[in-house]
Amino acid sequence: MLCIGIETSCDETGLALVRDGRLVHAVMSSQADIHALFGGVVPEIASREHYRLIGPLYDLLLREAGVGPAELDAVAVARGPGLLGSLLVGMAFAKGLALGFDIPLVGVNHLHAHLLAAGLERELVFPALGLLVSGGHTHIYRIESPVSFRLLGRTLDDAAGEAYDKVAKMLRLPYPGGRILDQQGRRGIADPRLFPRPYTDNDNLDFSFSGLKTAVQTHLSRHPELVPSPDAAQTVAGGHDAPEGLRNMCASFNEAVAETLCIKLGRALDGDDGVGVRALIVAGGVAANSYVREHTARLAVSRGLELIVPSPPLCTDNGSMIAYAGWLLRQGGLSHSLDLEAVPRGRAIPDDYRQGPAGCS
Ligand code: KG4
Ligand code: ZN
Repeated sequence: MLCIGIETSCDETGLALVRDGRLVHAVMSSQADIHALFGGVVPEIASREHYRLIGPLYDLLLREAGVGPAELDAVAVARGPGLLGSLLVGMAFAKGLALGFDIPLVGVNHLHAHLLAAGLERELVFPALGLLVSGGHTHIYRIESPVSFRLLGRTLDDAAGEAYDKVAKMLRLPYPGGRILDQQGRRGIADPRLFPRPYTDNDNLDFSFSGLKTAVQTHLSRHPELVPSPDAAQTVAGGHDAPEGLRNMCASFNEAVAETLCIKLGRALDGDDGVGVRALIVAGGVAANSYVREHTARLAVSRGLELIVPSPPLCTDNGSMIAYAGWLLRQGGLSHSLDLEAVPRGRAIPDDYRQGPAGCS
C-alpha cells in the first residue's frame, strides 16, 4: 500500500511516499531563511510559500521516486495542530489528490505523527510513554498503540522549543536557534545552579518554561557582555565558538531544559500512568537536542525501558512522518471524508475517523 504524506503545518513544506511501512522517498522545502528575517514564523508568508511550493514539490517527489500518480493508494495530510492558513494549503492539495484519484484521505495529528516517526527506522514498542518536544508543544502522552494516545501533561505557557528560540533571539542568534544553543553548550561547562528547573516543585505532569526564559533574561541583564554584537552573533550562528562565558551559559540552559523534562517523565513513570510502560518515545524538533537525548537515554536505562528517538532529520517537521502515520491509520482501515477540517493550534483534534472505504467518498 503506497501512501503519500503532506506536511504544511508550520514553515516546512514536506511530501513523502511510504510503501508498506517503509520510506520510498521524501522531498522538503524549508522556509526558515525567510522567517529568520522576521525573528519568527510569519503566518501569512508561510501559507503563501506553501502554496507556491506544494505543486512543484509533488511533481519532484513522484519524478525522483519513479512513481506514477495512479500508483497512490492513499493520501495522508497533517490536519493540525498548526497555523491555520498553512494547514489549509496542504489539506486542499490532499483533498484534490483524493478526489482526483479516488483514493482515501486520512487526516493526521501532526503531534502523533512526530511520536510515531521512529517507526520508519525501527520497531515501535507499546505501551510507551511519549514526550513530544517541539517549537509549539511540550506534551507527555501514554501511548497504547499507533491509534491510541492519552495526554497526561502539557506546557502551560512556552513550549521547550519556544524557550530555545526566545533565548536565541535574546542572543541575537537567528531563528530557530535551538540547534545553535545545543552546539555552543557542548563546548561549554554547565553550572547546575545557574538556572531553575521550572515548575517542578509540584506533583503534576505539566510544564512551564516561561520562568526559565525570564531567568535567562535576568542573567543577561546582569551580564550584558554575554550578548554578542550583531557581527559576533553571525559568526556564532555560522558554527564558530562563542566566548567561553556564553558557551557555559548555553550549557547551563540546555541542562536546565533536559533535566526539567526528565523530572516530569520520571514522575509519569512513577504514577499509575507508568504501569506496564515498556518504552520511552521522545520526538519533535527538540528531540534533536543532544542534552535531551542523553538525559532521556539515562532515564530509560535506569527504568529498564527502551528509548525510541528518531534520527535528527526525522525529529523536525517532515512529510515522511505524515506519510507513515497515515499508512498506519490506513492499516487500521481508518480514513476521513472530504469535509475533514483543519485544526489550529490550541484546539483539540477530534477523533473523527471513519472505517474507510477504498475510495475518497
Ligand atoms: O518539531 P519542529 O520541527 O517544529 C514544530 O512543530 O514546532 O520543532 C522546531 C523546534 C524549534 O524550536 C527549534 O529551535 C528546535 O525545534 N530545535 C532544537 C534543536 N533542533 C531543533 N532545539 C534544541 N536543540 C536542537 N538541537
Ligand atoms: Zn512539528
